[in-house]
Amino acid sequence: MTDLLEGVREHYRATGLTERLKAVLAAQWAEHEKLTPEQLGALDQFHTRGLAATAELARLAGITADLSVLDVGSGIGGPARFLAATYGCRVTGVDLSEPFVDAARYLTERTGQSGQLLFKTASALELPFDDGRFDIVLLQHVAMNIFDRARLYREIRRVLKSGGRFATFDVVLRGGEARYPLPWARTPATSFLLTADATREAIEPAGFRMLAWQDDTEAAKTWFAQLRASGPPPSPNLGVVMGPDFAELTANLGRNLMEGRLGILTAVFEAASTNS
Ligand SMILES: C[S@@+](CC[C@H](N)C(=O)[O-])C[C@H]1O[C@@H](n2cnc3c(N)ncnc32)[C@H](O)[C@@H]1O
Repeated sequence: MTDLLEGVREHYRATGLTERLKAVLAAQWAEHEKLTPEQLGALDQFHTRGLAATAELARLAGITADLSVLDVGSGIGGPARFLAATYGCRVTGVDLSEPFVDAARYLTERTGQSGQLLFKTASALELPFDDGRFDIVLLQHVAMNIFDRARLYREIRRVLKSGGRFATFDVVLRGGEARYPLPWARTPATSFLLTADATREAIEPAGFRMLAWQDDTEAAKTWFAQLRASGPPPSPNLGVVMGPDFAELTANLGRNLMEGRLGILTAVFEAASTNS
């Protein structure tokens, strides 16, 4: 288990990330200038369909200002900053990658949101929170890196209040094997894809009832086709975080979707009462 986590950590190791971010941001904005989540959107939304997907997931999850939100696998914090700015809610993010957490804190200072957001380095398989602490848990493009899904969904259920909601947006197996390298894993060694049905079968026994279920593959394919037509997104983009081959990894995910190997799933579940 430690080896598998280590492999994933290695993929997101991003040495010197905060320093790199400082340098690329300095090329466009003065250090004292307050940035908005939209300005950082091409850089800090590490999933298919970027900011639009986060906005849609938040709407489906029913986020409001009074709810406490946990973003599991929060990356460099883009989704958390967007949610706090849009809804006024408090958001906590946890991520396995220390450089990502460091970068998330830095970017959050730059957007002036440090009072609303908290980022911690931790594994999704061992969340450092008491039972029943959150109203909403989000999981965006993270599950495919997690080998023990039963434990992942149990941990998410544990930290949710009964009646709380779990919203997931993930890549799933569709027809055949994935072709690597991909944005979350350069080889199959750290990729643990499930089909949409197997994902549901792993989530429900952890104590969840399904509220919404959406196959977003077609929307993702349209997005990838537009991306291919318009060329690389303006700088700063996710290449700064993941390295110069990131455009190639992204294009390869697009190809896997077009070939029907992979799909994109959005789903929302309610945490069932623990004594039911
Ligand atoms: C593709 S990125 C998505 C980041 C973020 N959710 C977003 O959409 O912008 C996947 C993230 O999951 C994190 N991750 C992978 N396995 C994890 C684990 N076991 N526990 C916590 N975070 C994990 C990675 O470090 C990485 O930041």
